[in-house]
Amino acid sequence: MSKDKLKQYVYIGQAKSETTRCKIGITDDLDQRLNDYNNMTGKSKDDTYKYLFTCKVRDAKLLENDIKAEFKHLREVKSKEMYFYNAHWFDEYVNFIKSHKTFTEEIFIKADVQKEVVKVVKIIKREKPTLKERGLTYKDVMQKAKNVEFDEYYTRYEDVEKEIEMYDIEIWKDKTVFCNCDDAVDNEDKNTSAFPLYFIKNFKKLSLKKLICTHYVGKVDLFNQGPKGYVYTYIFTREGFEEFKDYPKGYNGSFDDPISLKILDEETDIVCTNPPFSRMIDYWDIVIKSGKKFLIISNISNTINTAYIPYFKENKVWAGYNEVYWYLTPKKELTRAAGYWFTNIPIKDRPHYKRLKIVSLKEIPEKYKEYDDSKTLIVNEGYIPSDYKKPFAVSVNPIVNGLLEKGYKIAQDKRYEPYINGKRCFARVLVQKI
Ligand SMILES: C[S@@+](CC[C@H](N)C(=O)[O-])C[C@H]1O[C@@H](n2cnc3c(N)ncnc32)[C@H](O)[C@@H]1O
Repeated sequence: MSKDKLKQYVYIGQAKSETTRCKIGITDDLDQRLNDYNNMTGKSKDDTYKYLFTCKVRDAKLLENDIKAEFKHLREVKSKEMYFYNAHWFDEYVNFIKSHKTFTEEIFIKADVQKEVVKVVKIIKREKPTLKERGLTYKDVMQKAKNVEFDEYYTRYEDVEKEIEMYDIEIWKDKTVFCNCDDAVDNEDKNTSAFPLYFIKNFKKLSLKKLICTHYVGKVDLFNQGPKGYVYTYIFTREGFEEFKDYPKGYNGSFDDPISLKILDEETDIVCTNPPFSRMIDYWDIVIKSGKKFLIISNISNTINTAYIPYFKENKVWAGYNEVYWYLTPKKELTRAAGYWFTNIPIKDRPHYKRLKIVSLKEIPEKYKEYDDSKTLIVNEGYIPSDYKKPFAVSVNPIVNGLLEKGYKIAQDKRYEPYINGKRCFARVLVQKI
């Protein structure tokens, strides 16, 4: 049967016992596929498999390849069609599939997502001007809600250690490090943020001068530090290590409080933390304008977000060494979000350069290059044309893999949203050979 006549479906499915991952696959028979999963030998009766999302498409293979390219960082290495799952990423997968050029019709989406949509629409109709009137899309609203949730993810010690140990140890010598986004310090390690924990444990090794950390009084007290903001200082003197906590009157520990700004301005050499996702734009603005060195975790998609693209364009920030995909929730459960280290500290021999495939346009396989409705070239899978003079569109990965250090520059200050056959595709950034 020709590809046009064959029914083609894409599905997202999940086994009851595996709530942190899902399967994104293609089939020509959804019922049969579900039966196959549920009749697998060795599977217990309790471990049923169900669909979270199903839809009809025109070219399932093409979409499957594009999903693999887009969500490469969320694929399990061992089992390639398995993807990491949480509510945020489920939305990302569904949004991507539904905005793909081959998507034709949604068949099923899990019930809580439908409810979520209805709830948001209702509130907005009753109490507020429409999203359109406010210049927002439904995706913007959902993203904001998710950012607030991400605010309360905290960083694992091993991720801090893995990144910091990549840098030349000399950069820390005699420096004051400021951790300014709820980097609480407690007698117990479990109530101490991974950032101060790392710097205190390695203070001597790094030859630090001083460590300053603040506790922020937010909605969720991640480190059980109580309702007063404080400034914690750790210093090495002739008498040995000294630490003290100061609770200035009226101070809530916010990074933009005058006390925090004074520390940033007058004492800090290097800022190092994982700031709240929901305040990221202000945070980047303050830290970058301060002119201090910084090493911070942020959303990987900042590289294709209009609010941050000018910083990458002006070379005020670049990716650090590592991605950060695992965090801990306030309940100390592992959760996933696509973070990356960003910095203005020099990177030596970036290991991820090898992920860039810089070859002539002719050598890029057809399936990894296409032209959108405005005839702009889009390249995928790390392929970069070495002999193409005009601006072309890339996703987040080439930027964090160091493309802008390889003779390419950002060609447009804002994010690029390609349309193919009138359908919006996922966002990119326009780059150009220098
Ligand atoms: C992503 S969590 C990271 C917490 C901690 N820095 C870590 O890495 O584990 C962001 C933290 O910033 C706090 N926060 C939110 N708004 C803040 C603000 N205006 N100033 C400082 N911290 C803030 C949140 O309460 C949350 O504890």
